[in-house]
This record gives sequence, structure tokens and C-alpha cells, in this order.
Amino acid sequence: MTKSFDIRSHLAKNPVLLAPMAGVNDPVFREICKRMGAGLTYSEMVSAQGLAHASQRTQELLSISDAEKPAAVQLFGKDPTVLAAQAQAIVDQYGDRLALIDINMGCPVRKVAGKGEGAALLKDPAAARSILETVVRSTDCPITVKFRKGFERHEDTAVEFAKMAESCGVAAITVHGRSARQLYQGESDRAVIARVKEAVSIPVIASGDVWTPADVHDYLQVQKANGVMVARGAQGNPWIFARALALLNGNTTFADTPVTLAERITVASEHLHKLALRFPLRLPTMKKHLSWYFKGMTHASAIRRAAHSCSSVTDFEQLLDNITRWEIDDL
Ligand SMILES: Cc1cc2nc3c(=O)[nH]c(=O)nc-3n(C[C@H](O)[C@H](O)[C@H](O)COP(=O)(O)O)c2cc1C
Repeated sequence: MTKSFDIRSHLAKNPVLLAPMAGVNDPVFREICKRMGAGLTYSEMVSAQGLAHASQRTQELLSISDAEKPAAVQLFGKDPTVLAAQAQAIVDQYGDRLALIDINMGCPVRKVAGKGEGAALLKDPAAARSILETVVRSTDCPITVKFRKGFERHEDTAVEFAKMAESCGVAAITVHGRSARQLYQGESDRAVIARVKEAVSIPVIASGDVWTPADVHDYLQVQKANGVMVARGAQGNPWIFARALALLNGNTTFADTPVTLAERITVASEHLHKLALRFPLRLPTMKKHLSWYFKGMTHASAIRRAAHSCSSVTDFEQLLDNITRWEIDDL
């Protein structure tokens, strides 16, 4: 049962997590990341308000398979009662497949923050407190919160916000070291993690500019985070999990081993076929996944262009065949 999920001991065993990413983290991608070593995988953020009248499509995207469990579901919203009701509905639906429910207080996009949800809650700590207290009280499932360093460009409210969240009874926090105004630009402030760590006793998970196993190592060893989320660094690169774990275990040779083209083709093909079979409406997202799987390779820009004109499984299959052939022609 979810009650037994202990995030601290889970992170102590495997601190490298797949960050929640809307439009990216379909269940197939999450499963692949889990198999490649992710300690915990997060869903895309889901609107609590929307969930109440969710389409089957939204429900499907939250599904947690045997291969992925236990996994984290992320909710966003601003109404404490709606959030608490939907959190409980998720607990009832997923049972021991669910590790925890994370509340999003960091999303900066206008259609979320503009409605007082996501990162807008950084500007309204009283509303954030009311949400966290209500949701924590409503369920035995561990509740966590993910937020940013601050709202305005040079604002640093992370320590105060972290203390507020801890006092509400959340089981852990994730801090992204960029402000909401920064969106995904500029550098993420790593040192904010160390400052938050000193201020609270609950586990602190770091997010922001995690591109390599060395970035994971730095957050854990230098900033003293309990866990690290890989976000854009995992797009088209689920191999980062095994390599980061290898580095943490002192296996620098494996940590630095490049991923071969054959491995990329195999995983891209698995992603394509499982998505087509289980979530066919999601097939168009293979355009970007495919581009990411081959980013940085010799034919990357040609692959990206070709992927964007694919529309059927056969189109994608043909592209994967072509990639194999181009590579052979290059030898
Ligand atoms: C395409 C995309 C979608 C994202 N969706 C979410 C989301 O649904 N919930 C969330 O908390 N953060 C989301 N994020 C933020 C990431 O989880 C992460 O905090 C951020 O990208 C910083 O990490 P990075 O610099 O290593 O990419 C998203 C980021 C990207 C790039």
C-alpha cells in the first residue's frame, strides 16, 4: 500500500529520478527510463480540475504498468478541495502502483500560472500552504511539492517556501534553481539546493541543468541533495540513468561510454511500437522523441526533418530503416 512508500530510503538506494515533463513522459517512455535505472518516474502534470472530467486519453496517460510501479503522479491546481479529492481518487485507483503524489508549484506557462496555478503559487504562500495542508490531511499517501527558486527573475524565496512546505507535512520537496520568469533559460542556480538542504529536514530533490552523470554527482555530493531529477537531459537519452548510477558507484568507464547507434535504433523502435499499440493517439509525439534519440549524430538534422513529416507507424519504421542504411553507407 502507498503508506509504506518511504521516499527517504528509496532515494538512499537510487537517487536518480525522471522529472515530470508534460508532453514527454508517456507511460512507454517512463517504463524505458525505469528499466534503464531511474529510481522513480513521474507522470506529466495533470490538472486536478480537469481530472474530475478527464477523457479516457488523460486517464490512460496516467496509467502505471507493472514495469513502472511504483511511480509518482503530479497534479496541479489551485483549489485545495479539488486537489485533495483528486489526490484521493488517484490513491484509490492506483493503490500500491503509486509511490507518491507531487503537487506542481513551478510551472511558469501562462495557461497555468496565469490562472493562479503552478508557479503563481510562489507569489501566494498562504494559498500554497492551504493546498498542501489540505492535501496532506486528506490521504495517507506521501505528498511532495515541486517548486522554483522564486517567481521574479532575481527572487530567491526557496528557503522560506521550503520551510513552509515542510511545516505542512509534505514528505519531500523538489527545487528547480530557476525563477518562473526565467522559464527554461539561463543557468539553474545549483547553490540554492545546498541552502534549502540546510534549512529543512525532509529530503530535498534537485532539478535544473542535469545533462550528464557528472551533474547528478555534483548535486548529490557537493550540494548534498537527497535526489536528482533528470529532465531535458533524459529526452532521447534514457541511458543517462544507468550511466549516472555507474558514476555514483565509481564505474567511470561505463559512465563515459557513448550510446551506440544500434542501441538508439532499438530503443526508438521499442518506444514507437509500444506507443502505437497502447496509446495510438499519442503517435505524433514520436516526431520529437525520434529527433531526440538521434540528436548529435551524423544525420541528426536530416532525421529531424524526416521525422516531422512522418504520420503513420510505417513512416516512422521506414525512417528507422533509412537511418540504419545511411549509417552503413557512411562506413
Ligand atoms: C518539455 C518540458 C515539460 C515539463 N513539464 C513539467 C511538468 O509537467 N511538471 C513539472 O513539475 N515540471 C515540468 N518541467 C520542468 C522539469 O521537470 C525540470 O524541472 C526543468 O526542465 C529543469 O530541469 P533541466 O534544466 O534539467 O531540464 C518540464 C520541462 C520541460 C522541458
